[in-house]
Amino acid sequence: MAQTKTILRALAGETQTIPPIWMMRQAGRYLPEYRATRAQAGDFLSLCYNSDLATEVTLQPIRRFGFDAAILFADILLVPQALGADLWFVTGEGPRLSTITNQGDFDRLHAPDDIHETLAPIYQTVRNLSGALPAETTLIGFAGAPWTVATYMIAGRGTPDQGPAHALRQENTALFEALLDRITQATIHYLSAQIDAGAEVIKIFDSWAGSLKGADFQKYALAPAREITAALKAKYPAIPIIGFPREAGDNYVGFAKATGVDCVALDNSVSPDWAARHVQVDGCVQGNLASRHMVSGGQALVDETRTIVSAFSGGPHIFNLGHGITPDADPDNVQRMIDAVREI
Ligand code: CP3
Repeated sequence: MAQTKTILRALAGETQTIPPIWMMRQAGRYLPEYRATRAQAGDFLSLCYNSDLATEVTLQPIRRFGFDAAILFADILLVPQALGADLWFVTGEGPRLSTITNQGDFDRLHAPDDIHETLAPIYQTVRNLSGALPAETTLIGFAGAPWTVATYMIAGRGTPDQGPAHALRQENTALFEALLDRITQATIHYLSAQIDAGAEVIKIFDSWAGSLKGADFQKYALAPAREITAALKAKYPAIPIIGFPREAGDNYVGFAKATGVDCVALDNSVSPDWAARHVQVDGCVQGNLASRHMVSGGQALVDETRTIVSAFSGGPHIFNLGHGITPDADPDNVQRMIDAVREI
């Protein structure tokens, strides 16, 4: 069936004169209306688990900017929480979790399909959104990739170099691989439930893929992405999947073919010209404007936006940032970016 939604057309391989656009973290602290709803919810996790308010914040950037896609408002760390990890957020610092460092910690985790009670409000948010979005807006569901989620579960927090996860990988490979497999299986259940609730596209965030080198990238970034993609494609062949092995560098090349994803999201450390030649040759790409332009604005924002649109104009492309928009961004710069994309 021919697709009418621009994002689905790009994901089906169509080259469009004006690429569709959305933005990572488009619902977030740079928006005053987000801050107001978050204050109403109390804290970030209460906002994630309140389906009505999570629906509201997902819709806010669609109302304000008319993005071509909405991304479910939730977090990649809800899966560890549903598996039984303690999770809380320290204001100004980020997430904290109970750690997985030995077999005993691992044995206390729930079975991979024993997550749905905790995550039921998230599925309700997806159902709300599929009824509430404008007809032209695509609904994206998501999860963290197993490696990235494991880095937080092992360290109990974000780390600059994912040191604790690399240490466990070397010192207790069996436990590390068992944890990755538990997350992989839980993620397949979680994403399947999002699709059942109405998600039209799935994105897998591997934010720390760049710290896996050589054979480790193949084993712990590529293979889990392939396993999740294969499981979802077997059940839902029509649902496109976007992979985001952030800072993969040369490992972006061939990633779509090797994993089966329909689109590779690019961070801004790779040049659009290089990525057009080496990654877009295999299909749709997404990206990759540096988030700092949303803070600094000016002519550089417009020029760089046009450079990216032009570099990817020969094939299927979804315009996006190279990573999430930051809280200090100016919403007016978001509008300037959208205007620059749509005017070309
Ligand atoms: O993109 C969206 O608008 C959808 C919602 C979304 C959030 N987090 C909301 C959020 C998505 C897709 C994520 C993914 C996520 N969460 C990732 C992968 C993408 C990436 O950024 O690399 C990661 C690593 C996380 C884990 C996480 N969540 C961290 C490290 C933090 C703290 C850092 C920060 O930005 O504050 C969060 C919090 C978080 N997740 C916020 C939002 C809007 C900020 C929470 C707040 O309101 O204070």
